[in-house]
Amino acid sequence: MSALPIKEVLLSEEQIQARVRAIAEEVSRDYAGRDLLMVTVLKGGLYFLADLTRALDIPVAIDFMAISSYRGGKGPSGVVRLIKDLDEEITGRHVLLVEDIIDTGLTASYLVRALLARDPGDLAICTLLDKRVRRIVEGLPIRYRGFEVPDAFLVGYGLDYRQLYRNLPYIGVLHADLLHQPAAT
Ligand code: IMP
Ligand code: MG
Repeated sequence: MSALPIKEVLLSEEQIQARVRAIAEEVSRDYAGRDLLMVTVLKGGLYFLADLTRALDIPVAIDFMAISSYRGGKGPSGVVRLIKDLDEEITGRHVLLVEDIIDTGLTASYLVRALLARDPGDLAICTLLDKRVRRIVEGLPIRYRGFEVPDAFLVGYGLDYRQLYRNLPYIGVLHADLLHQPAAT
């Protein structure tokens, strides 16, 4: 096993954890006394949701969705298929959609539409990373944003490259020469 294919550390574990605590303080203040349900999308949002909820000092319920996005050769298609739906009813509740990263915004925009159709009391997005320069869909209800990041392929803290490296406690930039190679057999 060779060393990890990480070109540089973009956000250290300490930077991430400090920002997570700061966001948790804001969320705790903003949602005090509300019926808060945090929803995340498997698998990328798992680590952020786990750390964020543990840093809250208000009650919170959690739930998960899973989707698959089709990406054609020309990039994201915006076609999203729901693989696992929520267990919870969200009508009338304060829903915070917790995302690892918003890139083009196509995935988040699909999820927002699907959730709004169920009449939540309130719906907002909390994303750890915002790859702003790549945005196609404008007007997403992003209420909390951890970091704005450059257009590089990132791994760690939930983000994967071919299902690997999600477990890294930091966020790193993947070596470019690894991208676009045929999958290892
Ligand atoms: P969007 O629909 O283009 O906003 O894409 C969002 C999804 O693309 C994220 O949930 C990630 O799964 C994936 N993604 C976007 N950028 C990266 C990255 O730099 N590394 C790993 N996954 C990424
Ligand atoms: Mg993802």
